[in-house]
Amino acid sequence: MFKKIIVANWKMNPSSREEAAKLFDEVVKAAGLFPNVEVVISPPAVFLPEFKKTLGDKPEVKLGAQDVFWEKKGAFTGQISPLMLTDLGVSYVIIGHSEKRVLGESSEEINKKIKAAFEVGLKPILCVGEPAIVRKRGVKASEKYVENQLTADLKGVADYAIIIAYEPIWAIGAGAPEEPTSAVEMASFIKKVLNAKLKDRIPKVLYGGSVDGVNVKNFLKYKELDGALVGGASLDSKEFGKLLNKTSEL
Ligand code: PGA
Repeated sequence: MFKKIIVANWKMNPSSREEAAKLFDEVVKAAGLFPNVEVVISPPAVFLPEFKKTLGDKPEVKLGAQDVFWEKKGAFTGQISPLMLTDLGVSYVIIGHSEKRVLGESSEEINKKIKAAFEVGLKPILCVGEPAIVRKRGVKASEKYVENQLTADLKGVADYAIIIAYEPIWAIGAGAPEEPTSAVEMASFIKKVLNAKLKDRIPKVLYGGSVDGVNVKNFLKYKELDGALVGGASLDSKEFGKLLNKTSEL
């Protein structure tokens, strides 16, 4: 049975190991109550070794990273190798988040990161989504923008199962999400575009942008949406537990 996927993107939070360990413990407990939901926790990379130890052999949650470099080892100051992540038991990696794109990450780099992740067996979660200025021009303009991102980011990637997180940039951290029906339309569009590009597999599409325990069901009740990428609400274990509970009811 396919499980809905909930990915917690902690971004650059929290700022201490103590807070991180506490939040992680609480989240693992909550996730243990809902085995029909695939829960992925993506903390800052520095917390991953400790979390891996906490989880041991029976992970209630899967570990994710927020970025990866495309080379496996060598003189690349500040980068994290895909092999380092798999060695830590990391299963997923977020790639191309708008908060990285705005700092200068290019489609060429994203494309190399996706290929490197697949090569070592990491599951990439590719983030796409239009800025407000494009959205104002309408649905067709937004679709074209997202299609261009998919074409550039997935150049030469043909046969793999990919997870796409559709995150309209204006809805991220805004407290006000996209209309669920518009997110569903975009998810269908993304699947249509990718079905034509990728040969064997059916891509999964998550929605991201101000998802919380109250609104998650409004999105995930649609079969077109395979899960959610959650920022702010994943930093509050009670809210996140509620979000998992609501998702498990679907
Ligand atoms: P948000 O962030 O849930 O705080 O809007 C989502 C994301 O950026 O992945």
